Amino acid sequence: MLTGTVEEAGPASPLGLVPGQRVATLVSLTLTPLQITDGLSQWDAQSEQVPCKGHAILFARSIAAVLPEDLSVELSLAVFDVCGAPALTSRVVTEGAVVLVVGAAGKSGSLSAAAARQAGASKIIGVVPTEAEAALLRDPTATAQDEGAEGVPRARINWQSRPRRAGPSPAPKSPLADEIVVADARDPVGLAGKVEAAGGPADVTVVCVDVPGCEGGAILSTKQGGTVIFFSMATSFSAAALGAEGLAADVTMLVGNGYVPGHAAFALDLIRGVPSVRQLFERRVGS
Ligand SMILES: NC(=O)c1ccc[n+]([C@@H]2O[C@H](COP(=O)([O-])OP(=O)(O)OC[C@H]3O[C@@H](n4cnc5c(N)ncnc54)[C@H](OP(=O)(O)O)[C@@H]3O)[C@@H](O)[C@H]2O)c1
Repeated sequence: MLTGTVEEAGPASPLGLVPGQRVATLVSLTLTPLQITDGLSQWDAQSEQVPCKGHAILFARSIAAVLPEDLSVELSLAVFDVCGAPALTSRVVTEGAVVLVVGAAGKSGSLSAAAARQAGASKIIGVVPTEAEAALLRDPTATAQDEGAEGVPRARINWQSRPRRAGPSPAPKSPLADEIVVADARDPVGLAGKVEAAGGPADVTVVCVDVPGCEGGAILSTKQGGTVIFFSMATSFSAAALGAEGLAADVTMLVGNGYVPGHAAFALDLIRGVPSVRQLFERRVGS
């Protein structure tokens, strides 16, 4: 994705942008025509973010979000990068569902846990790989004013852009997860056993890890008739499809499409309204 200032908007453009707005594109740069005019002279080749001068063209079907003034650009970009995950989670989770978030202390995982809470999940089980991440998920500094996603002030939520309206849910002891499981998501039997002990299997499992080999554990930790959202780019279609078949698992498996209408605004609302999610993000982006 890139950030820049809108120079001109075509008269028929449906993106709703006006000249002068600072925006981030929410699509891969491989899909964005970009002419760089400064030869990358401002880049020190040490950063994965590349400052440059140039022009980009967005299409009618491009996605762009206005950069919010109340959040740093780094934080906003980190949120935009994974904003499809909480939006899809919100769409899939129904009232009373048991939701398993694999990689719950990560960016997409923490947002998805907050979205599941707001959508009315009865129990959220968060999987983390280490005790250190478990401690992070329980960060006591987040608990004072943080009531999970129920803490998002209603006035701040743009109901038009939200993927779906949430039902009421109680504030959990941990802001984001009712149960925290420390497990290697690549170990299917070990993961499923620990998830079951924590109140699983899940109605909905959201895979937010950044490593390959987590398909079997996610499938085995999900109820028959349940749904697995594979947001991780490390997911293998063949491992998921053949794994489900091999386990006689009647689960719906969704590829985590990065786009859901209203996804950026929804994720920004969660970041603003759920302090624990914001803290986890700020640790990762260092802002
Ligand atoms: N579908 C889409 O449109 C889309 C868009 C953007 C990103 N993604 C993908 O989403 C995935 C997650 O991205 P993210 O930015 O949320 O990553 P992230 O912030 O790094 O979170 C990943 C989490 O998974 C944990 N983890 C790693 N290995 C694990 C294991 N074996 N067992 C349990 N947990 C483990 C990590 O722990 P540690 O930090 O301790 O390693 C981390 O907490 C990536 O694959 C990314 O490419 C998908």
